Parts: sequence; C-alpha cells; structure tokens
Amino acid sequence: MAEKKPKYYLTTPIYYTNGLPHIGHAYSTIVCDTIRRYKRMLGYDVVMTTGTDEHGVNVERSARKAGVPESEFVAKMAAVWRETWDELGIQGDEFIRTTDVTHAHTVQWLFRLCRENGYVYKGNYVGQYCIYDNAYVADAGPGDNCPDCGRPTETVTEENYFFKLSAFQKPLLDLYAKHPEFIQPETRRNEALSFVEGGLRDLSITRTAIRWGIPVPGEEPHVFYVWFDALTAYLSAVGGPDYERHGFWPADVHVVGKEIIRFHAVYWPAFLMAAGLPLPKQIWAHGWLLMESSKMSKSRGNVVKPRPIANVLGMDALRYFLLREVVFGQDGNFSYDALVQRYNSDLANGLGNLASRTLTMIEKYCGGKIPEAKAPVETKYNVQVGARHAVSAFQRAFEQFQFSNGLQAIWELISLADRYLAETRPWAIADNPGNHERLATILHTAARGLSIAAVLAHPVLPEATQKIWSQLGQQRRLQDFQLQELDWGQLKPNTRIGKVEAIFPRVEVSETIERMEAMEKEASQPAKAPASAAAGATAGATPAAQPANNKIAIEDFMKVEMRVGQVHTVERVQGADKLLKVNVDIGGEVRQIVAGIAQHYKPEDLVGRKVIVVVNLQPRKLRGVESNGMIVAASVGPEGRPVLAGFLEEVEVGARLK
Ligand code: MSP
Repeated sequence: MAEKKPKYYLTTPIYYTNGLPHIGHAYSTIVCDTIRRYKRMLGYDVVMTTGTDEHGVNVERSARKAGVPESEFVAKMAAVWRETWDELGIQGDEFIRTTDVTHAHTVQWLFRLCRENGYVYKGNYVGQYCIYDNAYVADAGPGDNCPDCGRPTETVTEENYFFKLSAFQKPLLDLYAKHPEFIQPETRRNEALSFVEGGLRDLSITRTAIRWGIPVPGEEPHVFYVWFDALTAYLSAVGGPDYERHGFWPADVHVVGKEIIRFHAVYWPAFLMAAGLPLPKQIWAHGWLLMESSKMSKSRGNVVKPRPIANVLGMDALRYFLLREVVFGQDGNFSYDALVQRYNSDLANGLGNLASRTLTMIEKYCGGKIPEAKAPVETKYNVQVGARHAVSAFQRAFEQFQFSNGLQAIWELISLADRYLAETRPWAIADNPGNHERLATILHTAARGLSIAAVLAHPVLPEATQKIWSQLGQQRRLQDFQLQELDWGQLKPNTRIGKVEAIFPRVEVSETIERMEAMEKEASQPAKAPASAAAGATAGATPAAQPANNKIAIEDFMKVEMRVGQVHTVERVQGADKLLKVNVDIGGEVRQIVAGIAQHYKPEDLVGRKVIVVVNLQPRKLRGVESNGMIVAASVGPEGRPVLAGFLEEVEVGARLK
C-alpha cells in the first residue's frame, strides 16, 4: 500500500483585480511556488492556493469607468492574473476567485458561526474610510488622508454588522505568546503585538453602501466587508465548510506582504477563533520590492512587469534574481542593471557554464556517456565533500525560508566544481590515451556535482534545471525527484547523455536592458493595447482606464503637459549605444532627458534644434542617468526608427502644446 504523504498547505495573498500583476506581486507568488516545489521534493502532498480578490468599491468604479458589468470586468482581469502565473512557471493548485459561488457559501457560513457564537451584533458606523486600502481609518476626521497610502479618506455613515474584535485581545496575546513562530519575521511579530496590546476596537464586517460584494443572507442590502470576504478565500479553496474531509486546513503558512500583516495576524485568527475553527500555523510577511528606493506600485507609476523580463531572459532568470537578491523578510531593490549582471555572473557564467563545459567534454571525450570514476585524482578541491555541505546548508536555509542563503550554498558547490575543472584541466590531458581513467574520473566528478546543484536549484529554476537533468541523460521528471533520494551515487555510469544545448547564453548588458525597457515601454502605451483585457495585461494598461471605444476624454489628454524645448547640449551615455543625454531648455528651466535616438541623430546636429518635450513625466533612470521628461518622436518602420517632431514655423521656447 502506498505510504500516506504528510500534507502541507500554503497560500499567496489573494490579489486585487482592479490592477494588473507587476513583479512585486510576482515576488509573493514566486516565493510560494518555490516553497511548494521544495516541499514536494521532500515528499509532502502540497496544496498551494492563489487567486483574485474581486469585490469592493474599487472594482465597482473601475468597471463603471470601463463601461462593462463588474462580473465581466473581473472575469477578464482574473484571466490575466492566471495567465501571468502560468508564464512564470507557477504551479498553483487552487486558483480561487472571490466571486466563486462556493466561496460565497464559505463566507456566509463563517459569518453564521461567528454570529451563533455571539461575536456579531448590529450597530452604526460613522467614520473615515480609505477605498484604496479597503480599511476604516481610526482617529481620522473628514478631509484627512489615509495614513497608509496618503490618499484622501471618505466619510461613511452606515448601519453595519460588527465583529467583537475587542473580545479577542487576550486570546490573541495568548496565541502570540504560546506560538512565537505564529508571526514571522520578528519585526512584524512585534508590530502585531503592539497593535493588539494597544487595545482592539470592534470591527464593522458588512457594508450597505457597496453593491458589489457577497450578500449577507436575509439582510440585503448588507454585503460583506472585503477583508472578511477575501481572507476566507484561504479556507474556501480547501473545502470551506467541508474542510475536514479535504484535510488541508489549517494552513501551514500564509505568505503576505508586510503591509497586510494586521489583517492576517489579528483579524483572521480572531474570525476563526470566534467561529471555533482551527488557526493557520504561521503568517510570514515579506518586505517590498523597491524601485529606486520607493515601493513599486501602480499608484506611484514605477512598476516593472514580469513579461518583458521573462521574454528576454526567461522566467527562471526573474525567479532566481528575486530569490537571490532579496533577503526574505526585508525590502529589496530591483533594477534592470542588477538583474542582467546577476544573470551573466551567476546563471550564464556559473550554472550554465558548468553544465555546458562538463557535458560538452563528456560528449567529446567519453562518447556521450557518463564515465565511471576509476582512478583517484589528486586535488585541492573535493567536490563530493562540497556537495554534502551544499545539501545540508541548502536544506537548513530553505527550512527557514532563507532562500538567498540556500542559493548561495548551491553556488558555492558550482564554483567548487569549476575550480576543480580548472585545476585538473581535463581538456589538456584528453589527447593521451594513458590518461583515460583520470579523465573519466574528473568528468564523472564534475557531472555529479552538476547533477546535485541542478536538483537543489530546481525549486527556484524549474525550467533550466529540468533541461540540465535531461542533458545528463535522466529520464524521470526532475519535479518528481525526492530530496531523500539525493546521493552522490545517483548518476549511473554509462548513461547516454542528451543533446547538449546552452542553458543560459551570456547576454550583452546594455542591449539586453534596452530590449526589456523598450518592451516595457511598448507595453504601457495604451493606444497599442488590444481591446481585450487579457491582451491589455501584455500592454500593461488597466482595462478600467479605457472606455469601451478606446477613446480618451479631453481631460485625460490635458494631463500630458507638452512644451516647446530647445536643445542646449548633448552627450552620449557611456555603455549605451542607443542613448543620448540631452539638456533641453523648456523656457526658464533646463531639463536633462535621456533619449533613445543615438543611432539616428548625431549630438552636433541636435544642438539648437527645437523639439517637443513631455515635461510632467515622473523622473526615471536609464542606465543610471536620470531622465526628466521625454522628447516626442514618431516611430517609423518595423524597427521603430525615431524621427523627432518639430515645427515649420517659428515658435517660442516654453510654449505649451494643446
Ligand atoms: N487583496 C489584498 C490581499 C488579500 S489576502 C486575503 C491585497 N492585494 S494586492 O494585490 O494589493 O497585494 C497583494 C500582495 O502583493 C501583497 O502581499 C503585497 O505586499 C504584494 N505586493 C504589492 N506590491 C509589492 C511590492 N512592490 N513588493 C512586494 N510585494 C508587493 O493586498
């Protein structure tokens, strides 16, 4: 009889559908997918839930703006989220939409349990509400801004159902004391602790001013507060009222961003305690992905989308970068420069190079078969011992979700195997038949080191490691491989290797960055966005912002401030053959703008020329140089040759275009 596997349940946040995925969201999801793959390799029966949070006033407004019913709007957006995760190699087991009927039943059931147990009552609420964060703002008055996102709050007066959160101060403090591991990392634990110690006010959990929500049975027009609704998705994904039969509740871990810790570590366990249901075992809050020191977010307009990166460098490169570069639990910086540097140093020169040189030599010198280790080889570098260290250091780190350290341990093994090859120089001894046994031992050892690195890196680099695995002649899918099976002897001599192909070809830094930036830019031009929301994601444009006929109102056009400018000075940008740094006088102010026109305009031909400048763009850095505006040009022909816009008549510098 097959042995019963232990179960493991983890969740990503349930993402809002009034926006589209950027790499900040991708970070949470990639982390969970990595944990899922790792736990599967340890023999767990794993379920990972992700999904979309589709109710609330924001969606109501976005759908109205787009001129479509809410249900149609969210269906298209949910499809985009799902597709994006597929493209990033995410293996979600459950994709829950909060508009699913089974989810509505779970929310209504949870409410009934809380009410039957005496934790729900009807009352009046008057106060300030932030519609973007979907949260009441305590201690705020009319006209105050939300302390979290800085946007204006709205005054609401409503008859609501209240949840007796105040009754849970002690039970929550007891929970945190008894299970110090419940909230991770320590800083977030302290934050939740002081929030609860400061006293808890009852929480309104229904709304009457919103239509787009799950109805409270028999109490229309009450609908559930979006957080009461969304948090419950974790439970509906694994059976809802029938959770015991499914066997996956309580969750082992909810992975969330640090700004939503209060909802997960305070409200959610309180709802569950009130209903008499088991509590999740852990809430793990990660930090933010920052872009030039500020949080990447749609409202700041500094988002980077995953698709251009996946298209140019492959999804594994993005996964590796995020997990290697960001210390889990802390904020981390994203830049294209750092991404491409890491790609070249760790993936192309590191793992990719070890794979291609080892496999190419096996093909060339050993007839394409894994050789047998026969003769001992004198060496400073013991790959077998290094592999043993890597396995234990990797596992220790991954058990603690310290992904960056785990990857570092694997890369130490890769570099050890590289140094071993550099020292033993198999290519230099291959011509002499007398060295045959020694050569076989060296290549055997390198192949074993490579295979262990590939197995360990699989949860982070699923695609590339599977390719290496197949090139090593292994027939079984790597994702079915169990870490317990990992041992130095698993690579059987005489196995025929597969076709040797480059895994991570080295790329030219500036050209690669320019390609990704151009794709990103292209994708965020709404005019080119296809009409469907699914394609809109490629375009990075929120369908909500687009009226059905793709036309914009004059007020939208007027938001773009364009002025006549005159070029002062021009220089080339070091290391970027397409970019020029142009200083333009826009009337009383000289702006530095980085323009991608270097291959079509010589600096000396531009000086003195009048150009059209978009002056109210957010500043951004291109190849490390700040650009403060944009020079308008036509994009001509299939390769998009830039042709600068200008005037036939004399115009004054600084004049606004309307
Ligand atoms: N719908 C709620 C979650 C409900 S869970 C029951 C929500 N959605 S969200 O789409 O706004 O954010 C989802 C997650 O994405 C959050 O955990 C948030 O921290 C994460 N991120 C959004 N921007 C991010 C970065 N720039 N960096 C890292 N994570 C980021 O909140």
